[in-house]
Amino acid sequence: MLLALLVLGWIEIGTGYNDFPSLMTANATMAVIVEKGFFKNTDNYRHTLDEISDVAKAVIRKNTEISGIALHVFGDADVNLARDYTVLLSVASCQTTWHLFKRAQKEKLVYLAVTEPDCPRLPEDAGISLPLTNPGEELPQIFLDLRTTGSLSWPKVNLIHDETFARDTISRVVKALSLELPDKRVSLSAQALFSTRFEKNENAMRQRVHRILSNYRVDQLGSCFMVVVTVDMVSVVMEVAKSLRLVHPGSQWLYVISDAAGREAKVASFAELLAEGENVAFVHNATKRLANCDMGLMCHVKELVRALAISLENSLLNELELYDRVTEEEFEVVRLSKAERKQEIVKSVNRELSYARARTSSCGKCVNWRFSSAITWGTSFASSEEKQRRESAEKRRREDSKRHGEDDQVAKSLGVGELLDAGTWSPGPGVNMSEPLFPHVKHGFRGRSLPVSTFHVGHAFLDYPHRVALE
Ligand SMILES: *[C@@H]1O[C@H](CO)[C@@H](O)[C@H](O)[C@H]1NC(C)=O
Ligand SMILES: *[C@@H]1O[C@H](CO)[C@@H](O)[C@H](O)[C@H]1NC(C)=O
Ligand SMILES: *[C@@H]1O[C@H](CO)[C@@H](O)[C@H](O)[C@H]1NC(C)=O
Repeated sequence: MLLALLVLGWIEIGTGYNDFPSLMTANATMAVIVEKGFFKNTDNYRHTLDEISDVAKAVIRKNTEISGIALHVFGDADVNLARDYTVLLSVASCQTTWHLFKRAQKEKLVYLAVTEPDCPRLPEDAGISLPLTNPGEELPQIFLDLRTTGSLSWPKVNLIHDETFARDTISRVVKALSLELPDKRVSLSAQALFSTRFEKNENAMRQRVHRILSNYRVDQLGSCFMVVVTVDMVSVVMEVAKSLRLVHPGSQWLYVISDAAGREAKVASFAELLAEGENVAFVHNATKRLANCDMGLMCHVKELVRALAISLENSLLNELELYDRVTEEEFEVVRLSKAERKQEIVKSVNRELSYARARTSSCGKCVNWRFSSAITWGTSFASSEEKQRRESAEKRRREDSKRHGEDDQVAKSLGVGELLDAGTWSPGPGVNMSEPLFPHVKHGFRGRSLPVSTFHVGHAFLDYPHRVALE
């Protein structure tokens, strides 16, 4: 048995070491596939094909000293990838991209994909993908990204929306929420759709929201809500939902606010409306200015190829260094196999991209959304320092909101929540979470120690006792 394993292991090394040349003996080769169907007209297509090839060559020349990448450009996806390519770069539809991904995996290619909007991204450790989004139309992609990263894992969602978005956008959002993901993770289904309308008269708006929510059947529709409304309607929905006891430890509410840019103080003020045990999160648009914001195809091709060229050059430098340290026979055994080198390069490209994206000039950087999570558990038992910290933050916020002429009426009710920056979204990297969207659902009390004996059991708890588990 042991012998058999040893032999197997040896064969694996044996084949691993012959199958692929070192970067020292042969430069990397890159297959570039630009799908014709991706472009509206053929002139545009031919022009873009040349442009991609020129831009890629120039970027490679500029960012390498001792290595090079040989390009082979193809006009359709029917390319034999079993030849000695190192890298595949494609500009193609979502379907073609995922199809190519499977083939690239099989041939252990580093895969860089630029694709159409509303396309699930490739797994981060296996490839680099970039769905091109048009500014102002990023909402469906945000939800897809939240799902593929596992940040939003609801089985069912109830969508409540106003008229901020055209019906077309809402249907793309619903599709993004219910699309079956390529890697067969649980698919989420959009359960019910409620549409409402912003009213200048707050009472009329309150009545309208009340009418919608009061007939709501929790037993049939579940307790996960997504509310896509204007920033001026959020507090009304929050209050009505609370008055109808739809907000409790067993429910989750995600507010999506697209007109929040410049209204940060207003968004922060929603913390006032939170009560203990509620799972509420906000996704808000923090895009400042869209002018001079380059998020086109060429910008992304440049950014991707640059990161690739730097990574390949580093990979060659590592090989040279290793070669200096060991004998030639040892080198052939210990140098990276094709699969290992692919892993190394994908990781390195991701790293280079995140350096590049930290700079202000990176593609699509100006389009920016923020996630805020509500921390409501245990805040009423906060230590005195924590209370002080919260109070001074609160004072700052009030001053801020006065400066912006926000109405400060909500601030009078004493909430127990605070909002925590949970992450960001922008077109290049997609979702970047530093905290879970619903921290209490994810990991209970975020390491807070709670004096359980004084734990307040309100009506909401009595209704949903099975959810109140101390983790
Ligand atoms: C790789 O390409 C670069 C630039 O074109 C060239 O200088 C270098 O000699 C090539 N290396 C190999 C191993 O062919
Ligand atoms: C986000 O905000 C920007 C600037 O305020 C706006 O132009 C853009 O349309 C907004 N995005 C969405 C999806 O509403
Ligand atoms: C995510 O955000 C953090 C800062 O909060 C940053 O350091 C990191 O580079 C970002 N990751 C990516 C992939 O952009």
